Amino acid sequence: MNASIITIDGPTASGKGTVAQIVAEKLHFHYLDSGALYRLTALSVMRSGINPDDIDQIASIAGNLPCRFEKKRIFLGSEDVTEAIRTEEVGNTASVIAAFPKVRRALIDRQTGFKKAPGLVADGRDMGTIIFPEADLKIFLTASVDVRAERRYKQLLEKGIPANIDSLRNDLIERDRRDSCRKEAPLVPAEDAITLDTSSLDIDETVKRVLSLFARKSSKCS
Ligand code: DC
Repeated sequence: MNASIITIDGPTASGKGTVAQIVAEKLHFHYLDSGALYRLTALSVMRSGINPDDIDQIASIAGNLPCRFEKKRIFLGSEDVTEAIRTEEVGNTASVIAAFPKVRRALIDRQTGFKKAPGLVADGRDMGTIIFPEADLKIFLTASVDVRAERRYKQLLEKGIPANIDSLRNDLIERDRRDSCRKEAPLVPAEDAITLDTSSLDIDETVKRVLSLFARKSSKCS
């Protein structure tokens, strides 16, 4: 299949989701928000009341998620959960269950199924290392903890959700630690990834850099 792949991995609130979506739109590529799959699993687990240590049940939920991605909306069954999966509580639970290898394995086929012509932009933690090692361009987006906490704080306030910047910052540090130190598919740049520190870059500048890196790669390969 002739499908180009760009992977954008990085820590929480590095801007990877926004950047990946815009890059996908500009190139008319498909888009995979892999974090949403972990969040959908987390939301289902939280609602089902099952024991959060019951790995088999959680993996079964992950492998059978009745979810749909429609334009920018995300559905679980017939319910639009686009906003419900974005809370800090769901994000933290997603990070906890994402450390279970069985849960990760249950989500692999769904993720690789997003690879379709003419191309895919996939964002997450292990897109370039595990899910799409064959990607044409691998980006690792980072930003300092203070910048990321500030961005997340502003996003929440804009949505009318009250937030405390110190506890957000502590949550980010804890989530980074958990995502980076786990044994299976930890958050690390792929060996052939290009790291972009976006602490002093805005979204437009970051998108421009990714597009120009992709154009350079594509011209070398054609
Ligand atoms: O990108 P995000 O904040 O929506 O992801 C939520 C959590 O899901 C994140 O803390 C770790 C997990 N995750 C993962 O382990 N692997 C991915 N490819 C994407 C997300």
